[in-house]
Amino acid sequence: MIAVHSTRLGPGAGGTRMRPYPSLTAALQDACQLARSMTYKFAAADFPLGDAKAVIALPAAWDDRGRTELLQRFGTLVRQLRGLYVTGPDVGTSATDMDVIGTTGAPYVFGRTAEAGGSGSSAPPTALGVYYGIEALAAHLFGAPDLRGRRVLVQGAGGVGQDLIPRLQRAGAEVLVSEIDPTVVQRLQDAGVVLVPPDQVSATPCDIFAPCALGGVLNRESIAQLRCRGIAGAANNQLATTEDAERLRARGIVYVPDFVVNSGGAITVVGVEALGWSLAQAEAKVRAIGDTVRQVLQRAEADGGTTEAAARQLAEQRLAQAPGSVAHPVVVSAGR
Ligand code: PHE
Repeated sequence: MIAVHSTRLGPGAGGTRMRPYPSLTAALQDACQLARSMTYKFAAADFPLGDAKAVIALPAAWDDRGRTELLQRFGTLVRQLRGLYVTGPDVGTSATDMDVIGTTGAPYVFGRTAEAGGSGSSAPPTALGVYYGIEALAAHLFGAPDLRGRRVLVQGAGGVGQDLIPRLQRAGAEVLVSEIDPTVVQRLQDAGVVLVPPDQVSATPCDIFAPCALGGVLNRESIAQLRCRGIAGAANNQLATTEDAERLRARGIVYVPDFVVNSGGAITVVGVEALGWSLAQAEAKVRAIGDTVRQVLQRAEADGGTTEAAARQLAEQRLAQAPGSVAHPVVVSAGR
């Protein structure tokens, strides 16, 4: 499924998420919600592209042998849209997968490996943006961006988490990690990382919680348990509902909206590959995520609302100024 949420700022760009879903309805809903948050993400980053997302809903018994063929079929679908939608990696897909999709979907595929002519994985620049966001959050909470001795709990050591963890460690943070994949858990254990069981994530005391797994982790139940001062992480759609932003505010937990802080990968790979940015330009754009976080946190503090509302306001202002077409939802599906 390809969901295009808005082409107001340009063609609809968004990653391809590939995983099993409990139902096709759940997959469709995820695609639509993820596409919508790409709109806010690019607008908040002042990035001139529209917003979309693709979901490849795998059957429960998927054994991955048909991966190449499936990705190539998907590439054909992407190509048929002739640029209405451009893709990149997301949960369950990698730069290597983008190479495969590119064999049938080029030139509408970003984030391929350098060998295939792309700019490589979007995970490291995403992690870098999250890192700057965490520093800005620390500055807001503690008066200085210094992470030395601060306890940061990273939920999910996937593509982004795996890159964020050593960055935080190098900055002197005490890093705790929660992960569900047994092979990754083993690797983390061998590296001496302190692990938190998945069911204890919400209740574990920490300074900053960094959700880097799937969405919906900030909900009525988890928010009641949280023992952190602030939240900043890479996962898309962390809030289960919009009311959860208010629940966090009421508990005095400073939430950095996911779409503000997790844009680093998408803007880097699309910026470098499609807009002719140099690496230095891309890095400056990613660093600017920290400034946007500061701006959003200050705005929320000034008007007493939630950080989510402040960030949406900022994004909506940028969208309103854009000359492009009116936002309109389009969903395309290739069937089974
Ligand atoms: N997974 C990226 C995100 O959610 C999506 C993306 C990556 C889009 C690379 C385009 C290019 O931001």
